[in-house]
Amino acid sequence: MKKWFIIKNLEVEKLVFGWKWFSKLKSDNKDIDWKTIFITGWAIPFSIVDVKIIKKRKDYLMTQIVNIVKKSSLEKKHPNNPYWECWGCKWINIPYKEQLKIKYTQVKESFFHLEKIIWNIDNSILPIIPSPLIDWYRNKVEFSFWKMISSQNNIEQHFNVWFHKQGMFSQIEDFDWCILIDKIQNEIYKEIKDFCKKSWLPVYDQKPQTWFYRHIVIRRAFFTDEIMIILWFNHKYFKNEDLLKEKIVLIKNFIKRLWEKYNIIKSFYLSYNDNKADIAIWELELVYWDKLITEKLRVNNSSLFFKISPKSFFQTNSYWAEVLYSKVLDFADKNLFKWSIVLDLYAWTWTIWMIFAKNFAKKVYSVELVKSSSDNWKENAKLNNLNNLEFINKKVEDFLEYYTNQNRKADFLIIDPPRSWMHPKALPNILKFKAKQIIYVSCNPSTLTRDLNFIFKNSDYKIDKIVAIDMFPHTHHIEIIVSLKLNKI
Ligand SMILES: C[S@@+](CC[C@H](N)C(=O)[O-])C[C@H]1O[C@@H](n2cnc3c(N)ncnc32)[C@H](O)[C@@H]1O
Repeated sequence: MKKWFIIKNLEVEKLVFGWKWFSKLKSDNKDIDWKTIFITGWAIPFSIVDVKIIKKRKDYLMTQIVNIVKKSSLEKKHPNNPYWECWGCKWINIPYKEQLKIKYTQVKESFFHLEKIIWNIDNSILPIIPSPLIDWYRNKVEFSFWKMISSQNNIEQHFNVWFHKQGMFSQIEDFDWCILIDKIQNEIYKEIKDFCKKSWLPVYDQKPQTWFYRHIVIRRAFFTDEIMIILWFNHKYFKNEDLLKEKIVLIKNFIKRLWEKYNIIKSFYLSYNDNKADIAIWELELVYWDKLITEKLRVNNSSLFFKISPKSFFQTNSYWAEVLYSKVLDFADKNLFKWSIVLDLYAWTWTIWMIFAKNFAKKVYSVELVKSSSDNWKENAKLNNLNNLEFINKKVEDFLEYYTNQNRKADFLIIDPPRSWMHPKALPNILKFKAKQIIYVSCNPSTLTRDLNFIFKNSDYKIDKIVAIDMFPHTHHIEIIVSLKLNKI
């Protein structure tokens, strides 16, 4: 069987973490019978597909779907989604119960990769926790304006607003309704979009890179009912300053009218961006109302308030964030961490940090590489009456080197590294504390088990509990919390 060969009528068996489908080939040919096949492209488990071989290896084949012969019996059109396809949420046509089963299996299987596993993992993995909201859960969404003109593909679309298609960045289709955001966010999106369309100003055109409208960002604080809108455009599109000013007045007047209809809009910014790359350049003008919106999270029966600026990082599913942080706190052995020194490594929004500072830790050190993610931390600490915390803007690996060299102690560690990895220099230093408990939060089962392998080989930590929480329904994302304790099975 050569490269580019097409295998017909293959049944997709399951989805393995990280986008790849998986199947075993059943064939009359003894050499390839039961060979492992990884499949890229999109199909739902139990679909029948034709695939093209793109890579041959001794133990497996990498293939790509070229045709879906038969849809899966699992596939069901989501009742709240007007479209069959949705680029923001690939799993939309897999019923939610099945999505959870797939994610739970993926998490469980990832622990089979642990080399030094001497106990029965089944007893440690708790049932998966569903997202409190299955649809309309995103508190932040960013839509891109895009023009698609291609004579080669016979496409002429002058006005599209949506998400970029995964794996095909140059494609955006025009959709009106997003299942990931709630009714009011959708209505506001549609009003802005209609206004922009009627204004007859051009939207982003990839080739000549001349454009005016670029992005719409809508942020919503769910628990306080406050909305922030940011509209991005390229001010350099107009050579004539007066013309630009005239257009901006029209936009401002429109937003004022929009606010009369939806007075939960608390903040409106214009973002001036003439950068060629389609990335955020933060030249912001606060046009109306408040600089910040405030979100409130309830964790362990107490509320914490978070001021959010246009640049702030914040968990995109507020309901889920409450569940995640409550679970982290629930896993934390209160007897061990009361009045202890807590290290919150890879802090991002410092949410975990504030929760532990509020819940009896003596002192919490929060370490994060990106400085801007700590914007407003002092203001937020004050808002929540917290003074037992310190923010450290450093690489975790460098901070740990410095901190351990000074023989400083930590009783309790929370590690929430980026998807890609935790620096290998950081791991040995983490073990030096002999902290009574480590809670590892991960959105990538592969790097999680790789780090756990190191920890188990080089220490006496054992798994205490594991739970997966579904953060983003209709997508492949999953969050896993692992509690590790010294010498506890
Ligand atoms: C998964 S997020 C953390 C989420 C956070 N704990 C929360 O609950 O919101 C990972 C964070 O690690 C940060 N990061 C990446 N590499 C880092 C490094 N070497 N040192 C410190 N922080 C790093 C990223 O900027 C990102 O904010």
